[in-house]
Amino acid sequence: MVAAIPRADIALPWDEPVEDPVAVLAAARAALGDTFVVDSGGRRWWFVFGPIGVRAFYAIDERIASKGIADWEMLRRKLPDELFVGRRTLPHELWSRHATASYLQALDAAIAVSFDELGSTGSMELFAWSRRLGHRMGLASWGGIWPSRDPSFGDLIDAFDRLDGSMAFVDPVGTRHVVASGHADERAALAALEARFATAVAERSAHPIDDLFGAIVDRWSDAGDDERDRGIARDVVLVHLGSMSNLFAALGWTVGHLLLHPETADQVRAGDRVLAERCALESTRIAQRSLMSRAVLRDTDLDTDRGVVRVTKGDSIATLLALTNTSAAPGLGAYDPSRWEKRRLRDASALPARELVATFGHGSHTCPAQPFSLAAIVAATSSLLDRYDLIPRFDTILPVRGQIGGVARSREACVVEYRLR
Ligand code: HEM
Repeated sequence: MVAAIPRADIALPWDEPVEDPVAVLAAARAALGDTFVVDSGGRRWWFVFGPIGVRAFYAIDERIASKGIADWEMLRRKLPDELFVGRRTLPHELWSRHATASYLQALDAAIAVSFDELGSTGSMELFAWSRRLGHRMGLASWGGIWPSRDPSFGDLIDAFDRLDGSMAFVDPVGTRHVVASGHADERAALAALEARFATAVAERSAHPIDDLFGAIVDRWSDAGDDERDRGIARDVVLVHLGSMSNLFAALGWTVGHLLLHPETADQVRAGDRVLAERCALESTRIAQRSLMSRAVLRDTDLDTDRGVVRVTKGDSIATLLALTNTSAAPGLGAYDPSRWEKRRLRDASALPARELVATFGHGSHTCPAQPFSLAAIVAATSSLLDRYDLIPRFDTILPVRGQIGGVARSREACVVEYRLR
């Protein structure tokens, strides 16, 4: 028998202005329970927060309810369509073929330039620092652009920041004008990036290296010059935009939490890399705001905590990590890196379903860049603590209110004073 499901009379922020969509969905859940629908912008959204529904969510076959299409529908509110057409690099293949060793050197080089930029003493805004470093770490790893302090590197970062697809869920209300503008600013930024990557390709053909960028270049070896240069640039741009959704913010939270927990920071500073990775997972868990969604391609039955429901083609199914990650079991509200063991929660059995807590996802869509991201965060955090004495001029980190998706950006400036040790 198909269950009757309550409907929340709310809208989603890309359809109508909603100041704090996470709070609005939290209130709907408090009123209606773990399973409810939202009709917004002509589409039905099935929200699931209970153990049965969330477990079923992660188990859905991509051909029946697609993450790829759900992501594309979200991102095209900010990114021009041509960026998605003709891509030859699937991030899964990129990561599976290349071992960690192929990018560790690039990460170290990016961190070195970032320290060079900081100098010996001063103050910085934590998330601005982590964002710039995230760009450098990524572009050195898959963009063939070695970290530098050259002003042209700043221009490159500016172009990525203008294009930034994650604004579709970080600031969905502020992004509503983009489609009407014909993606004019985004197209100009993309053109600037294509020109820059054509140079990177030319430099690379003189000195081939077997790294992630080399793997992208190889995929276009049969194409004519213009098609190849544009294809490589767009492959790199899409991978890099994917990295901008979460990596720099997770790094910011990891460092920020450590500065607020000096005893744990001392252990990381003493060289405990296993602990550093646990800290990265713990901060990511707490800061996760990801809206996980799937676009329904075929009518299907979905198990929920209210019974089986019939979802139909054109609907979306979704859950929101901000409403489960810190509340699915007692104690999850606290920062405690020791709850992690080998990238899993030690007592996942205490959860009604282990899928109720997610950092890099579950099931077939688990983040392919998890090993890279953890390596990057551990390297950057450990090196920063090792090199500098750091004093946080903030006592808490709060997520920005309008964001619905990805790891939280910080609502307020998190200023850190630093001095070489
Ligand atoms: C701390 C950093 C990161 C976090 C917390 C994170 C988190 C996630 C999560 C939760 C998912 C699953 C989403 C779902 O099931 O709907 C995911 C998927 C994905 N992530 Fe990440 N991610 C991170 C870094 C990156 C980076 C650096 C890249 C690319 C360079 C990347 C590329 C992807 C891709 C392509 C997928 C889709 C996989 C698929 O559809 O099968 N991620 N990520």
